[in-house]
Amino acid sequence: MVEGCPPLRLLLIGSPGAGKGTQSGRIQNNFEVSTISSGDLLRKNIAQGTEIGKRAAKEMKNGAFVSDEVMVKLIDSELDKLGAEQGWLLDGFPRTMTQAETLDHTLDSLNQPLNLVIHLNVPEEVILQRIMDRWVHIPSGRVYNMTYNPPKRAGLDDVTGEALERRPDDNPETFKIRLQKHHELTEPLLDYYKNKNILVSLAGNTSDEIYPQIRELLQTRFKPEESPSEAEGQGQA
Ligand code: AP5
Ligand code: MG
Repeated sequence: MVEGCPPLRLLLIGSPGAGKGTQSGRIQNNFEVSTISSGDLLRKNIAQGTEIGKRAAKEMKNGAFVSDEVMVKLIDSELDKLGAEQGWLLDGFPRTMTQAETLDHTLDSLNQPLNLVIHLNVPEEVILQRIMDRWVHIPSGRVYNMTYNPPKRAGLDDVTGEALERRPDDNPETFKIRLQKHHELTEPLLDYYKNKNILVSLAGNTSDEIYPQIRELLQTRFKPEESPSEAEGQGQA
Protein backbone atom coordinates (compact mmCIF):
# COMPACT_ATOMS: atom_id res chain seq x y z
CA MET A 1 0.00 0.00 0.00
CA VAL A 2 1.15 3.60 -0.53
CA GLU A 3 2.64 5.02 2.68
CA GLY A 4 0.00 6.74 4.73
CA CYS A 5 -2.83 5.13 2.73
CA PRO A 6 -5.16 2.58 4.28
CA PRO A 7 -5.37 -0.85 2.62
CA LEU A 8 -7.70 -1.05 -0.37
CA ARG A 9 -11.24 -1.88 0.72
CA LEU A 10 -13.04 -1.90 -2.58
CA LEU A 11 -16.52 -2.81 -3.77
CA LEU A 12 -17.14 -3.60 -7.45
CA ILE A 13 -20.74 -2.98 -8.38
CA GLY A 14 -22.38 -3.53 -11.77
CA SER A 15 -25.19 -5.34 -13.51
CA PRO A 16 -25.04 -9.10 -14.15
CA GLY A 17 -22.36 -9.69 -16.78
CA ALA A 18 -20.83 -6.21 -16.40
CA GLY A 19 -17.43 -7.84 -15.82
CA LYS A 20 -17.11 -7.80 -12.02
CA GLY A 21 -15.47 -11.25 -11.90
CA THR A 22 -13.23 -10.44 -14.88
CA GLN A 23 -12.00 -7.14 -13.43
CA SER A 24 -11.56 -8.71 -9.95
CA GLY A 25 -9.19 -11.24 -11.49
CA ARG A 26 -7.13 -8.52 -13.13
CA ILE A 27 -6.98 -6.42 -9.97
CA GLN A 28 -5.95 -9.43 -7.92
CA ASN A 29 -3.18 -10.22 -10.40
CA ASN A 30 -1.73 -6.74 -10.05
CA PHE A 31 -2.48 -5.43 -6.57
CA GLU A 32 -2.24 -6.82 -3.07
CA VAL A 33 -5.87 -7.71 -2.49
CA SER A 34 -7.96 -10.71 -1.55
CA THR A 35 -11.18 -11.15 -3.49
CA ILE A 36 -14.48 -12.10 -1.91
CA SER A 37 -17.06 -12.96 -4.58
CA SER A 38 -20.54 -13.69 -3.25
CA GLY A 39 -21.60 -15.59 -6.38
CA ASP A 40 -18.44 -17.75 -6.39
CA LEU A 41 -18.89 -18.52 -2.68
CA LEU A 42 -22.50 -19.55 -3.24
CA ARG A 43 -21.61 -21.76 -6.21
CA LYS A 44 -18.92 -23.47 -4.11
CA ASN A 45 -21.43 -24.08 -1.35
CA ILE A 46 -23.85 -25.57 -3.85
CA ALA A 47 -21.14 -27.81 -5.33
CA GLN A 48 -20.21 -29.00 -1.81
CA GLY A 49 -23.83 -29.57 -0.79
CA THR A 50 -23.62 -27.39 2.35
CA GLU A 51 -26.71 -26.06 4.20
CA ILE A 52 -26.11 -22.60 2.69
CA GLY A 53 -25.78 -24.20 -0.75
CA LYS A 54 -29.08 -26.03 -0.32
CA ARG A 55 -30.83 -22.83 0.74
CA ALA A 56 -29.34 -20.79 -2.13
CA ALA A 57 -29.61 -23.17 -5.08
CA LYS A 58 -33.22 -22.53 -6.02
CA GLU A 59 -33.00 -18.73 -5.83
CA MET A 60 -29.82 -18.66 -7.88
CA LYS A 61 -31.19 -20.93 -10.57
CA ASN A 62 -34.26 -18.69 -10.87
CA GLY A 63 -32.32 -15.43 -10.87
CA ALA A 64 -33.75 -14.33 -7.50
CA PHE A 65 -31.66 -12.96 -4.63
CA VAL A 66 -30.54 -15.15 -1.76
CA SER A 67 -31.80 -13.82 1.60
CA ASP A 68 -29.96 -10.94 3.25
CA GLU A 69 -29.55 -13.03 6.39
CA VAL A 70 -27.68 -15.84 4.57
CA MET A 71 -25.56 -13.40 2.59
CA VAL A 72 -24.50 -11.29 5.56
CA LYS A 73 -23.47 -14.39 7.51
CA LEU A 74 -21.53 -15.79 4.54
CA ILE A 75 -19.58 -12.60 3.84
CA ASP A 76 -18.97 -11.76 7.52
CA SER A 77 -17.27 -15.10 8.00
CA GLU A 78 -15.00 -14.43 4.98
CA LEU A 79 -14.09 -10.93 6.24
CA ASP A 80 -13.32 -12.43 9.65
CA LYS A 81 -10.55 -14.49 8.05
CA LEU A 82 -8.68 -11.36 6.88
CA GLY A 83 -6.34 -9.21 8.99
CA ALA A 84 -6.89 -5.48 9.50
CA GLU A 85 -3.96 -4.63 7.18
CA GLN A 86 -5.14 -6.91 4.38
CA GLY A 87 -6.57 -5.17 1.31
CA TRP A 88 -9.70 -6.75 -0.13
CA LEU A 89 -12.33 -6.35 -2.78
CA LEU A 90 -15.95 -7.40 -2.74
CA ASP A 91 -17.65 -8.66 -5.93
CA GLY A 92 -21.44 -9.07 -5.72
CA PHE A 93 -21.96 -8.08 -2.10
CA PRO A 94 -23.66 -5.90 -0.90
CA ARG A 95 -26.48 -5.79 -3.43
CA THR A 96 -29.44 -4.64 -1.33
CA MET A 97 -29.77 -1.61 0.94
CA THR A 98 -30.06 -3.88 3.98
CA GLN A 99 -26.80 -5.63 3.04
CA ALA A 100 -25.06 -2.27 2.46
CA GLU A 101 -26.15 -0.84 5.80
CA THR A 102 -25.27 -4.03 7.68
CA LEU A 103 -21.84 -4.14 6.05
CA ASP A 104 -21.15 -0.50 6.92
CA HIS A 105 -22.14 -1.17 10.49
CA THR A 106 -19.74 -4.13 10.72
CA LEU A 107 -16.87 -2.26 9.05
CA ASP A 108 -17.38 0.88 11.11
CA SER A 109 -17.19 -1.16 14.29
CA LEU A 110 -13.84 -2.55 13.05
CA ASN A 111 -12.72 0.94 12.01
CA GLN A 112 -12.18 -0.41 8.48
CA PRO A 113 -14.73 1.39 6.28
CA LEU A 114 -15.00 0.83 2.52
CA ASN A 115 -12.73 3.36 0.81
CA LEU A 116 -13.72 2.92 -2.84
CA VAL A 117 -16.77 1.74 -4.80
CA ILE A 118 -16.29 1.22 -8.54
CA HIS A 119 -19.41 1.06 -10.66
CA LEU A 120 -18.86 -0.87 -13.91
CA ASN A 121 -21.21 0.86 -16.28
CA VAL A 122 -21.60 -1.36 -19.37
CA PRO A 123 -24.46 -1.01 -21.89
CA GLU A 124 -27.11 -3.70 -21.54
CA GLU A 125 -27.08 -4.56 -25.22
CA VAL A 126 -23.51 -5.91 -25.06
CA ILE A 127 -24.03 -7.88 -21.86
CA LEU A 128 -26.43 -10.61 -22.94
CA GLN A 129 -24.10 -11.82 -25.70
CA ARG A 130 -21.22 -11.98 -23.20
CA ILE A 131 -23.28 -14.12 -20.85
CA MET A 132 -24.25 -16.49 -23.64
CA ASP A 133 -20.56 -16.96 -24.45
CA ARG A 134 -19.43 -17.42 -20.83
CA TRP A 135 -17.87 -20.59 -19.41
CA VAL A 136 -16.67 -20.87 -15.83
CA HIS A 137 -14.39 -23.00 -13.66
CA ILE A 138 -16.61 -23.38 -10.60
CA PRO A 139 -13.96 -24.31 -7.97
CA SER A 140 -11.84 -21.19 -8.64
CA GLY A 141 -14.45 -18.82 -10.12
CA ARG A 142 -12.24 -18.26 -13.21
CA VAL A 143 -14.30 -16.81 -16.05
CA TYR A 144 -13.83 -17.36 -19.80
CA ASN A 145 -15.54 -16.08 -22.87
CA MET A 146 -15.45 -17.86 -26.20
CA THR A 147 -14.57 -14.70 -28.13
CA TYR A 148 -13.05 -12.28 -25.58
CA ASN A 149 -10.80 -14.56 -23.51
CA PRO A 150 -11.12 -18.21 -24.59
CA PRO A 151 -9.37 -20.96 -22.61
CA LYS A 152 -6.08 -22.22 -24.05
CA ARG A 153 -7.61 -25.66 -24.56
CA ALA A 154 -11.28 -25.79 -25.56
CA GLY A 155 -13.57 -26.56 -22.62
CA LEU A 156 -10.76 -26.79 -20.04
CA ASP A 157 -9.56 -24.46 -17.27
CA ASP A 158 -6.11 -22.97 -18.06
CA VAL A 159 -4.72 -23.59 -14.57
CA THR A 160 -6.10 -26.97 -13.48
CA GLY A 161 -7.10 -28.53 -16.83
CA GLU A 162 -10.48 -29.35 -15.28
CA ALA A 163 -13.71 -29.12 -17.26
CA LEU A 164 -15.41 -25.75 -17.67
CA GLU A 165 -19.16 -25.46 -17.12
CA ARG A 166 -22.03 -23.23 -18.11
CA ARG A 167 -23.81 -21.52 -15.21
CA PRO A 168 -27.43 -22.67 -14.79
CA ASP A 169 -28.54 -19.02 -14.53
CA ASP A 170 -26.91 -18.04 -17.86
CA ASN A 171 -29.93 -18.23 -20.15
CA PRO A 172 -31.98 -15.35 -21.61
CA GLU A 173 -35.06 -15.93 -19.38
CA THR A 174 -33.16 -16.02 -16.08
CA PHE A 175 -30.87 -13.23 -17.19
CA LYS A 176 -33.91 -10.98 -17.66
CA ILE A 177 -34.95 -11.60 -14.03
CA ARG A 178 -31.40 -11.01 -12.75
CA LEU A 179 -31.27 -7.71 -14.60
CA GLN A 180 -34.66 -6.70 -13.23
CA LYS A 181 -33.56 -7.51 -9.65
CA HIS A 182 -30.42 -5.49 -10.23
CA HIS A 183 -32.38 -2.40 -11.33
CA GLU A 184 -34.86 -2.75 -8.50
CA LEU A 185 -32.66 -3.69 -5.53
CA THR A 186 -29.02 -2.92 -6.34
CA GLU A 187 -29.08 0.33 -8.32
CA PRO A 188 -30.28 2.34 -5.27
CA LEU A 189 -26.86 1.57 -3.74
CA LEU A 190 -25.25 3.89 -6.29
CA ASP A 191 -26.86 6.93 -4.67
CA TYR A 192 -26.05 5.59 -1.23
CA TYR A 193 -22.31 5.41 -2.03
CA LYS A 194 -22.38 8.64 -4.06
CA ASN A 195 -23.60 10.43 -0.94
CA LYS A 196 -20.65 8.99 0.95
CA ASN A 197 -18.27 10.36 -1.72
CA ILE A 198 -16.65 6.99 -2.44
CA LEU A 199 -18.35 6.14 -5.76
CA VAL A 200 -16.51 6.20 -9.11
CA SER A 201 -18.44 5.20 -12.22
CA LEU A 202 -16.42 3.81 -15.14
CA ALA A 203 -17.95 3.27 -18.56
CA GLY A 204 -16.93 1.18 -21.54
CA ASN A 205 -18.09 -1.69 -23.67
CA THR A 206 -14.95 -3.10 -25.26
CA SER A 207 -12.45 -5.46 -23.73
CA ASP A 208 -9.70 -3.01 -22.92
CA GLU A 209 -11.62 0.12 -22.01
CA ILE A 210 -12.38 -0.38 -18.35
CA TYR A 211 -9.34 -2.09 -16.78
CA PRO A 212 -6.82 0.70 -17.63
CA GLN A 213 -9.15 3.15 -15.90
CA ILE A 214 -9.30 0.95 -12.81
CA ARG A 215 -5.52 0.47 -12.80
CA GLU A 216 -4.89 4.19 -12.98
CA LEU A 217 -7.36 4.86 -10.20
CA LEU A 218 -5.80 2.26 -7.92
CA GLN A 219 -2.22 3.25 -8.75
CA THR A 220 -2.87 6.77 -7.53
CA ARG A 221 -3.83 5.38 -4.12
CA PHE A 222 -2.35 1.89 -3.79
CA LYS A 223 1.05 0.64 -4.88
CA PRO A 224 1.08 -2.44 -7.19
CA GLU A 225 3.15 -5.46 -6.21
CA GLU A 226 6.87 -5.39 -7.18
CA SER A 227 6.45 -7.74 -10.15
CA PRO A 228 3.01 -7.29 -11.67
CA SER A 229 1.79 -10.50 -13.25
CA GLU A 230 2.02 -10.86 -16.98
CA ALA A 231 -1.52 -12.20 -16.77
CA GLU A 232 -2.97 -8.70 -16.56
CA GLY A 233 -5.04 -9.36 -19.66
CA GLN A 234 -6.49 -12.64 -18.39
CA GLY A 235 -10.08 -12.64 -17.31
CA GLN A 236 -9.71 -14.64 -14.14
CA ALA A 237 -12.16 -14.29 -11.30
P1 AP5 B 1 -23.09 -13.46 -9.29
O1 AP5 B 1 -22.28 -14.68 -9.53
O2 AP5 B 1 -22.50 -12.33 -8.55
O3 AP5 B 1 -23.67 -13.00 -10.69
P2 AP5 B 1 -24.01 -11.56 -11.28
O4 AP5 B 1 -24.00 -10.40 -10.38
O5 AP5 B 1 -25.25 -11.80 -12.05
O6 AP5 B 1 -22.79 -11.23 -12.15
P3 AP5 B 1 -22.06 -12.23 -13.11
O7 AP5 B 1 -21.12 -13.09 -12.35
O8 AP5 B 1 -23.07 -12.89 -14.01
O9 AP5 B 1 -21.28 -11.23 -14.02
P4 AP5 B 1 -19.92 -10.48 -13.78
O10 AP5 B 1 -20.20 -9.01 -13.62
O11 AP5 B 1 -19.06 -11.14 -12.76
O12 AP5 B 1 -19.30 -10.64 -15.22
P5 AP5 B 1 -18.10 -11.58 -15.75
O13 AP5 B 1 -16.78 -11.03 -15.35
O14 AP5 B 1 -18.38 -13.01 -15.47
O15 AP5 B 1 -24.43 -13.87 -8.53
C1 AP5 B 1 -25.20 -14.97 -8.99
C2 AP5 B 1 -26.43 -15.13 -8.14
O16 AP5 B 1 -26.05 -15.36 -6.77
C3 AP5 B 1 -27.40 -13.94 -8.06
O17 AP5 B 1 -28.28 -13.93 -9.15
C4 AP5 B 1 -28.10 -14.24 -6.72
O18 AP5 B 1 -29.05 -15.28 -6.85
C5 AP5 B 1 -26.98 -14.77 -5.85
N1 AP5 B 1 -26.28 -13.72 -5.11
C6 AP5 B 1 -24.96 -13.38 -5.23
N2 AP5 B 1 -24.66 -12.37 -4.40
C7 AP5 B 1 -25.80 -12.06 -3.73
C8 AP5 B 1 -26.13 -11.10 -2.75
N3 AP5 B 1 -25.22 -10.24 -2.28
N4 AP5 B 1 -27.41 -11.05 -2.28
C9 AP5 B 1 -28.34 -11.92 -2.73
N5 AP5 B 1 -28.11 -12.86 -3.65
C10 AP5 B 1 -26.84 -12.93 -4.16
O19 AP5 B 1 -18.25 -11.29 -17.30
C11 AP5 B 1 -19.34 -11.79 -18.03
C12 AP5 B 1 -18.86 -12.33 -19.37
O20 AP5 B 1 -18.38 -11.25 -20.14
C13 AP5 B 1 -17.70 -13.32 -19.26
O21 AP5 B 1 -17.85 -14.31 -20.25
C14 AP5 B 1 -16.46 -12.47 -19.53
O22 AP5 B 1 -15.41 -13.23 -20.08
C15 AP5 B 1 -17.03 -11.46 -20.51
N6 AP5 B 1 -16.39 -10.17 -20.39
C16 AP5 B 1 -16.08 -9.54 -19.24
N7 AP5 B 1 -15.51 -8.36 -19.51
C17 AP5 B 1 -15.50 -8.24 -20.87
C18 AP5 B 1 -15.07 -7.23 -21.77
N8 AP5 B 1 -14.55 -6.10 -21.31
N9 AP5 B 1 -15.24 -7.43 -23.09
C19 AP5 B 1 -15.79 -8.57 -23.54
N10 AP5 B 1 -16.22 -9.58 -22.76
C20 AP5 B 1 -16.08 -9.41 -21.42
MG1 MG C 1 -19.29 -12.80 -11.50
